[in-house]
Amino acid sequence: MTIGFILNGEDVAVRVDANIRLIDILRRNFSLIGAKAGCLCGRCGACSIIFNGVVVKSCLIPAFCVHESEIITIEGFEQDAGYEDIIAGFSQAYVETCGYCKTGKILAVEALLSKNPRPSRREILLGFQGLKCRCTEHEALINAVSITADRRQKRLYGRSS
Ligand code: FES
Ligand code: FES
Repeated sequence: MTIGFILNGEDVAVRVDANIRLIDILRRNFSLIGAKAGCLCGRCGACSIIFNGVVVKSCLIPAFCVHESEIITIEGFEQDAGYEDIIAGFSQAYVETCGYCKTGKILAVEALLSKNPRPSRREILLGFQGLKCRCTEHEALINAVSITADRRQKRLYGRSS
């Protein structure tokens, strides 16, 4: 089948098997390798992308669902001011990001703050539940999200609360 969709702001079309996973389309057909093929069963978050405005795991999305959708990968999100806020939060809180988990961690913060600009400690930890990374302390993640939330509020509204 041929599917057409918007990928990082560009109209694209590609011919693929109907059941191929979105992560494979992104990596094989478009050389967008920021989404990693980890568990391939929805548990690690390494393959996260933004699908019609919602952060999802691209290993769970078959090609036939992609037609006429809008997709932003981490490569596209890097152009968003929100990306800089998150990277600064991680850096200031000393959050580890290796090649395996970086995309999932960044987009987990985006998913959380886009729904809830001021998450509680518990909400932050819940927001990272769908990710596999045993290298980062919970306290560091909580600090990173709080710093990111402050930066985001200042950037958007000129104040931090
Ligand atoms: S590769 Fe998709 S959630 Fe692990
Ligand atoms: S820092 Fe990447 S898996 Fe932990």
